[in-house]
Amino acid sequence: MKSKAVFLAIALAGLVAGAVTAADEPQAVRQELMKKIGASTGALAAIAKGEKPYDAAVVTASLQTISENSKAFPDQFPAGSETGLETEASPKIWENMDDFRAKSVKLATDVDAVLAQLPADQAAVGAALGVIGKDCASCHENYRIKK
Ligand code: HEC
Repeated sequence: MKSKAVFLAIALAGLVAGAVTAADEPQAVRQELMKKIGASTGALAAIAKGEKPYDAAVVTASLQTISENSKAFPDQFPAGSETGLETEASPKIWENMDDFRAKSVKLATDVDAVLAQLPADQAAVGAALGVIGKDCASCHENYRIKK
């Protein structure tokens, strides 16, 4: 019985260790959040440019993804995640964490305002993207390293 319990403990420990893969690292989590923000912004841009027909469900889902991910994003920068996994995060983030957070909150706030009055046609999606796009740029210019 005893050896069985020990075996079980080792097996469980192995499972736990195995579960911590690169995908769980904060660098990977925040890159995934941003990838989805990028894809959602792309879906909105396709509508704004007329490449895709206006679709309220797509607009809503895209805005919701940007909102949720921009709220989760600034929590993915713990000490120790400054480098690794080809991160494009600038060291300036850790020197100006309050300003960095404020830029993420600004994006979330602007997107939530757009969601509250959902753009009803192609032109309105374009206008919303004008606001949202400035938020992307103002953070990337300061806090994302171009590789
Ligand atoms: C608060 C700052 C901030 C805002 C706002 C922001 N980004 Fe980012 N973005 C970053 C940082 C930092 C990275 C690099 C993350 C890393 O590599 O660890 C990044 C990376 C990305 C990436 C690359 C993801 C990958 O690894 O493949 C895309 C795409 C992206 N952002 C799109 C956007 C879009 C579109 C918006 C606006 C809707 C936006 N971002 C708003 C800070 C921001």
